[in-house]
Amino acid sequence: MEPAKFSIGLGNNDAKIRSDASKDYVEFWASQAKRLSWFKAWDTTLEWNPPFARWFVGGKINASYNALDIHQNQKDKPAILWEGENEERHTITYGELFSDVQKVSNGLKSLGVEKGDRVTIYLPMVPEIMVAMLACARIGAIHTVIFSGFSAASVHDRVVDSQSKIIITADGGYRRGVIVKLKEVVDAAIENLDFVQNVIVLRRTKIPISQNKKDLFWEDIVRDSPDVCGAEPLESTHPLYILYTSGTTGKPKGVLHDTGGYLTHLHSTFRWAFDIKDSDVYFCTADIGWVTGHSYVAYGPLLCGATQVMYEGAPDYPSQSRMWDILQRYKVTIFYTTPTALRMFMKYGDAIPNSFDLSSLRLLGTVGEPINPEVWKWYFRTIGKDKCPIIDTWWQTETGGMMLSPLPGLETIPLKPGSATFPIPGVDIAVVDDAGKETLPDTKGYLVIRKPWPGMLLTLWGDDEKYKSVYWSKYSGFYYTGDYAIKDGDGYFWLLGRADDILKIAGHRIGTAELESSLVSHRGVAEAAVCGIPHEIKGEAIIAFLVLKEGIKVSETLQNEVMSKVRSDVGAIATPQQIYFVSKLPKTRSGKIMRRLLRAIASNEKIGDVSTLEDGAAVSEIQAAFDDIKNQIS
Ligand code: WTA
Repeated sequence: MEPAKFSIGLGNNDAKIRSDASKDYVEFWASQAKRLSWFKAWDTTLEWNPPFARWFVGGKINASYNALDIHQNQKDKPAILWEGENEERHTITYGELFSDVQKVSNGLKSLGVEKGDRVTIYLPMVPEIMVAMLACARIGAIHTVIFSGFSAASVHDRVVDSQSKIIITADGGYRRGVIVKLKEVVDAAIENLDFVQNVIVLRRTKIPISQNKKDLFWEDIVRDSPDVCGAEPLESTHPLYILYTSGTTGKPKGVLHDTGGYLTHLHSTFRWAFDIKDSDVYFCTADIGWVTGHSYVAYGPLLCGATQVMYEGAPDYPSQSRMWDILQRYKVTIFYTTPTALRMFMKYGDAIPNSFDLSSLRLLGTVGEPINPEVWKWYFRTIGKDKCPIIDTWWQTETGGMMLSPLPGLETIPLKPGSATFPIPGVDIAVVDDAGKETLPDTKGYLVIRKPWPGMLLTLWGDDEKYKSVYWSKYSGFYYTGDYAIKDGDGYFWLLGRADDILKIAGHRIGTAELESSLVSHRGVAEAAVCGIPHEIKGEAIIAFLVLKEGIKVSETLQNEVMSKVRSDVGAIATPQQIYFVSKLPKTRSGKIMRRLLRAIASNEKIGDVSTLEDGAAVSEIQAAFDDIKNQIS
């Protein structure tokens, strides 16, 4: 045990926050919510009709107002220091962002967008993505941002599910020097969708695009719309956004977040975790298409009036030093990234970061996947030069904001490389066994949340029943996270990966069921099973096992077809690393695929003790299935 070496303090010691939170968590969150600007105070802090929570009921608030209007006393302060992949650079101040957002809000209004309507945003990492989100929030439209790496089929499903009236996209976006033609994807996605009224197109790359009757240009809207648009006072429980995420069933789930609770959670965690000061330059590398981008690129920093760097492209393009060049150029003080990115940078070698001046850094963070202790230590030494605390932040799309993390803005604690440390104040998290009993120290169990928290999802869009069954049916009264964890003897939490059929590929969340349904829709495939195996950089890589239909032969063409089917159904991020063709899949008696067994085969591991793991299957059957597949493959 070596925590003493990693006890880096930033001089904060606000013990009152923790003691207040432990006395009465509802009152505590009310005191935090008061830091935001409300049009009308709430009547009830928490209405808890398990499993549905409504925070700050009766209160009126607006996210865009809290992100922009309240900062207009310093309107020349940079909000976004934007860098394009092609080295274009712009600074957008709080004043400019405010004006652009109001124009786009007015533009949306003139297209008939009203409170509660859904607007799909499918844009690259350009400042306009934030403008679009805040413009929706300002008028009470519910935004649904789709990561720009998703395919036309994925966009189609999400637009249909959310019934979006308007789509905001770009002609294209830059990624590794190549232009990704986003407008083309949207055209394919919305063919025959009559309810989509307009497509607003930003000319990011100026490539030629096909023009349809529904198309309008972003530039025209911004030019022609007035720049004054008041923020709509919205109920605290009014939905701010839908964000689709992978679940254990074939279709992605629309996680629905409210306004008042979500903003309270972000405003609090952004300050506690990042210790944000007026002089800081913050940089989170997440794409806005994922929840980290929503919470800690779009809303968190703006609520706190922070200056942040936003970068459009790949982190190692055009060279392996791109990230460090950005940190040096903008004198970044707070850097928040993923274990996948860090593993990649570490592999490129120390000489690259060592040749840059990274002395402005004072705080480092990671998110999205477990971080290996070696990588944590490398981050601490080579990037942080032994002087920056690292926050390993555990949370989910559904939790809205951080739930487990060191909080250097509040307190100094000894850090343990690889542990997300403790719950944030006001949340109650535990590791429990199958019966819901807290496990003994150092014993693996399931991570659960035992009380409602302000950032929690309202429900799944249009599907309360699924919300209940996915998160609240495994344990009565506890939210089930789907993660394995242990709590050590000092009370530190260690995350051990997913306990369900969700993969984390380079930090991106992908459901095995989604991939399998794409694979079996190929004409030659009868059955498919997908699992994740450890990958040196990405954390996990996708492996697929396929059973072909009678008479279909294995060939390179078939293999390529299957790969491109996944890319077009889900997106390039979901491409399997390897496909194995087998004669049958190992299943339990209840018909569940034995993924652990497949994983062991693909990783060339021994079968191990799976007797307790594969519900309803006898050890001998598992062993036989294992040997059978192994023989076919080796
Ligand atoms: C995983 C990302 C270990 C976890 C914010 C969780 C982590 C899932 C960590 C949610 C961490 C996130 N350590 N694992 N610090 N942070 N995870 O919805 O499995 O994309 O359930 O949200 O990522 O992924 P999501």
